[in-house]
Amino acid sequence: MRIHQYDNAQQVGQAAAILIGAQLLTKPDAVLGLATGSTPIPTYQELIRLYQAGVLDFSKVTTFNLDEYCQLPPQHPCSYRHFMRQELFSQLNLPAENQHIPDGNAADLSAECAAYDQAILSAGGIDLQLLGIGRNGHIGFNEPSDQFVYGCHVVHLTQSTIEDNRRFFKREEDMPRLAVSLGVGSIMNAKSVLLLATGKDKAEAVRKAILEDIDPSTQASILRTHPNVIFLLDKAAASLL
Ligand code: GLP
Repeated sequence: MRIHQYDNAQQVGQAAAILIGAQLLTKPDAVLGLATGSTPIPTYQELIRLYQAGVLDFSKVTTFNLDEYCQLPPQHPCSYRHFMRQELFSQLNLPAENQHIPDGNAADLSAECAAYDQAILSAGGIDLQLLGIGRNGHIGFNEPSDQFVYGCHVVHLTQSTIEDNRRFFKREEDMPRLAVSLGVGSIMNAKSVLLLATGKDKAEAVRKAILEDIDPSTQASILRTHPNVIFLLDKAAASLL
């Protein structure tokens, strides 16, 4: 496990983009695991800049997003599909057929989850998984629990996640209570993992993930057992280490 600390969120984004860029230069057809939330936005901006500058090429890249809300139309401004289109995909030469996001509106969600895990396997597995972290230590939407769930699954969001993410919705009752998320097993199967955390709101989750017992009550704590994980933190997120 490596931990790199930076002065600000911008630098965290640049460091993450350097690592993702290095992955694409060594393996142009890399499979990337992508995350949503405000944390990866500086990373995505830097990747767009490197693409526009002619440094990076996404034409052979495949991506799998971590999660998606259920019962939210894909064109809804708060859906993760919309977020990814807006913040990244529309500005890169990443083929639409290579962009994967779980379908939170599938009629049979368990079949959708099984198919999503299978699609990752068929693509050869994730080379580099980008992660944020929830204030409650979640990764993807793997919420605090008494167990780690291996595969893609349907999640009942916790009250703390609903409170954190409701800022994006007009009314709290519009915020979905259910989501589909990659499991911790699929995340751990990635060849390398990059966890980004910025801001003082994440300091306690980062402290628990790095310094306390490996325990499903802080899902990110399992990342410490990954052979190739890097934590990129700004000063505020690292302030309790
Ligand atoms: C959501 C996502 C997570 C993300 C978390 C943190 O709950 N499902 O993948 O890490 O938010 O979001 P933010 O980066 O906005 O703090």
